[in-house]
Amino acid sequence: MNSDTVTSVGSNSPTALIEVNEVTKRFGNGIATVTAVENVSFTVPSPQFLAIMGASGSGKSTLLHLLGGLTRPDEGSVSVNGTEITKLREPKLTYFRRQEIGIVFQAFNLVPTLTATDNVALPVLAGGKQGTQSVAELLELVGLTDRRDHRPDQLSGGEQQRVAIARGLVTGPPILLADEPTGNLDSVNGTRICELLQRLRREQERTVIAVTHEPEVAMWADRVLVLKDGGVVADFETGHFKNAQDLAAHYHELLHANDGEPALC
Ligand SMILES: Nc1ncnc2c1ncn2[C@@H]1O[C@H](COP(=O)(O)OP(=O)(O)O)[C@@H](O)[C@H]1O
Ligand SMILES: [Mg+2]
Repeated sequence: MNSDTVTSVGSNSPTALIEVNEVTKRFGNGIATVTAVENVSFTVPSPQFLAIMGASGSGKSTLLHLLGGLTRPDEGSVSVNGTEITKLREPKLTYFRRQEIGIVFQAFNLVPTLTATDNVALPVLAGGKQGTQSVAELLELVGLTDRRDHRPDQLSGGEQQRVAIARGLVTGPPILLADEPTGNLDSVNGTRICELLQRLRREQERTVIAVTHEPEVAMWADRVLVLKDGGVVADFETGHFKNAQDLAAHYHELLHANDGEPALC
């Protein structure tokens, strides 16, 4: 690693799609209080594929939920497309989420009784606005046209995750948030999901933010934010690294810094 590896990417960008400003989120109270995210600030330009890395419990999911307006911070603000979402109340917050955000979870969360087509259409049936791409076009985009009438139990894990991604895109959101989208997949299917996320950023100019603890997944992104104990400890472009092993070495060095152990490299 050279010293310019840890550079802030996209900060102070005038065209930021997402602005996170000194955000803190705590759970519980009294001596049981857990600070899940602590004083985090960064911006995300559009489009960008951003990976959020960190050990289990470092605050990745909480940060993703804050970006999607699923959780409200105790301090600080989150703005998306010029709207300070942390000030929105219902029903405006739900409206914002339907317009701006698609969400994909590790566990896919498909409705077991519905076909792939109906699962993808669900956010529209639930009151969202159909985006510019039809359900059939989205199933084609994720390579599942021939599986459109299958229910989740008739699909592989990788196929189910691709249905979940198509569902996340059906309202045409500029932002797709994905929490450990490859966490339940083998490496071949995981790679296919990463390829798809990268295509969404490159061909459709979407901003994709994916939580992962796998350097092989993060390497597909443009940029990586590393969390440790709820704070950002690094913000770098993947282009600085030769390959996933190189990125992994830097990542592990960051996670073990100040642990009293010698650095890995
Ligand atoms: N709803 C919750 N109630 C209480 N504690 C929570 C809640 N969600 C997360 N936490 C705590 O906040 C910290 C960060 O959690 P999380 O954001 O899920 O981390 P990660 O996704 O990196 O594993 C952990 O200590 C976790 O136990
Ligand atoms: Mg998590």
